[in-house]
Amino acid sequence: MTTQKILLTGGAGFIASHTFVALITAGYTPVIFDNLCNSNPKVLDRLERITGIAPLFIRGDIRDAAALDAAFGAHAFAAVLHFAGLKAVGESVEKPLEYYDNNVRGTLELLAAMRRANVKTLVFSSSATVYGDPATTPVHEAFPLSATNPYGRSKLMIEEILGDLFKAESDWNIARLRYFNPAGAHESGLIGEDPQGIPNNLMPYIAQVAVGRRAQLQVFGGDYPTPDGTGVRDFIHVMDLAEGHVAALKYFDGATGLVTVNLGTGKGVSVLQMIAAFEEACGKKIAYQIGARRPGDIAECWADPALAQKLFGWSASRTLSDMTRDGWRWQSMNPTGFLD
Ligand code: NAD
Ligand code: WQD
Repeated sequence: MTTQKILLTGGAGFIASHTFVALITAGYTPVIFDNLCNSNPKVLDRLERITGIAPLFIRGDIRDAAALDAAFGAHAFAAVLHFAGLKAVGESVEKPLEYYDNNVRGTLELLAAMRRANVKTLVFSSSATVYGDPATTPVHEAFPLSATNPYGRSKLMIEEILGDLFKAESDWNIARLRYFNPAGAHESGLIGEDPQGIPNNLMPYIAQVAVGRRAQLQVFGGDYPTPDGTGVRDFIHVMDLAEGHVAALKYFDGATGLVTVNLGTGKGVSVLQMIAAFEEACGKKIAYQIGARRPGDIAECWADPALAQKLFGWSASRTLSDMTRDGWRWQSMNPTGFLD
């Protein structure tokens, strides 16, 4: 059992709120630092209902050095899990400066504050987007990196900044975690993904069709060179992803250095397979129409997850039907997300 305090930037968001639960289960004391630009404070009550512990919460922006210094002054953090960031690919094309400012400058401010506080263990939320359009699957960590939009480039830049930092100051412990496609929700149905406006991602869009908030899903492309013509992705249950962060933290109990690790299942699921699995979970037909490809999309992408198993002793254990069952429970219990 550990009572280590862990700072969760972006802690009120989708993935970090689930990681909060996993950290409490593992005996850590997470502290949420979030400016709530893409999350709802109701998540804090829900986290208390799930864990029985009222979350420690600081409302602040990672670009605010004074707010960060105050947080590091108030708590003796053992490590930082850095989730805070803007993540909408399309919006990043419209607003590149905002994305670089928030994601890249925000991370620089965070790193400077960590150094001032002498907290040098960091787990960073990177993304499979840094692989661009991978030449083959499964995708291995050593594959070439590229970006096709400012969001992806911000992740790539941060990965490089972290690499340069470690080269210069080898007393840092850094995990760059490349998430594949997080999906599902906590099994309680009390927390989940709550996108503002039209969902960009597949699972929340399907869930909103199922609950009657949207008329039908547009399937972006039916002519990809995949078994059924639709895109194939590595959907990973968000609680598996959350537990991957606990495993990464524990890794640094016995090891030091910089690691770059895929967090995925190693299995590809097509858009049509996801629709069918969700229909099974909700007991309804999902209306959909196959239309044009979405610009920038790739045909298929799934992880080689072997390194996570080797380094962290972690692998995803939940199935596609766990993801759709839990995603549907969250959506059906909260038809308008945290507005309910
Ligand atoms: P999210 O938007 O639900 O959570 C991000 C949180 O960060 C939000 O609560 C937001 O309010 C907060 N935030 C943003 N900018 C901030 C700032 N300047 N200061 C303080 N808080 C700030 O997103 P998520 O899906 O939970 O993603 C978490 C992280 O994982 C992001 O860095 C994202 O890029 C990365 N990631 C997400 C996915 C995905 O598909 N969801 C995939 C790969 C990587
Ligand atoms: C999955 C599949 C779509 C919506 C994105 C980001 C990536 C990462 C994860 C943060 C694709 C299809 C989708 C819809 C559809 N995020 N689709 N109709 O594109 O793999 O990755 O989220 O790092 O950076 O790019 O995920 O959920 O948007 O799409 O047919 O309404 O579903 O074409 O094949 P993607 P996604």
